[in-house]
Amino acid sequence: MSRSEKKKATRRRCRRESTTDARARALLTLTATVTRDHDVEVIQDPFVQLTRSHRRLEERLEDLRWAARGARGAAVDVDAVRDVASFFSRAVRRHEEDEELSLFPRLQNNSTLAPLLARLALEHREHLTLQCQLDKLIETLHKTPDDETAIEELAALSEALILAYRKHLDAEEGVLFPGARAVLDAEALDAMATEMSERRSGGGGGGGGGGGRSTATPSSS
Ligand SMILES: [Fe+2]
Ligand SMILES: [Fe+2]
Repeated sequence: MSRSEKKKATRRRCRRESTTDARARALLTLTATVTRDHDVEVIQDPFVQLTRSHRRLEERLEDLRWAARGARGAAVDVDAVRDVASFFSRAVRRHEEDEELSLFPRLQNNSTLAPLLARLALEHREHLTLQCQLDKLIETLHKTPDDETAIEELAALSEALILAYRKHLDAEEGVLFPGARAVLDAEALDAMATEMSERRSGGGGGGGGGGGRSTATPSSS
């Protein structure tokens, strides 16, 4: 795909994602479910995988921060910034599918966790807005990599992303994941792991069923 085609694809994604809510995204992915028994990346514990994805994300955010800092008084390494944007559009999207399609639906009847799920899904949309701003900034920096205003915007945007994700990841690792472990049974965890593995092997990864040992009331969890 040529660079101009990639730009068009990015613009389409930003437009599409900004108008597509989590439920619609879930339905789109559900229709793409593929069962594969070969070359599947095996995930044993879905929460270990989700947490590992968070660490990778933090590393890439630091890459973005350093690309912005290193550019002050010089030209931006646009390819380095583009690599981070590409990570957002591939790995972070997939991670959000793991959460929104394989984890959140299994907890949606849990009255203790439901408000947090709504907040986290909303934050995914807010993160996407920031990522789309990054995509636009890359277009500017590609043309003028020493544009001081754009470099300042890049620095501010990288800090905004770091701050937004720090809050989000803290809530997931500090509250959501331990809470989910407490209420989901082994069968639900196995199904999650299978869906996430399929997602990494090119399959759709399915969608989460009701599942869970006790999702109806917090008192029974
Ligand atoms: Fe998340
Ligand atoms: Fe997450």
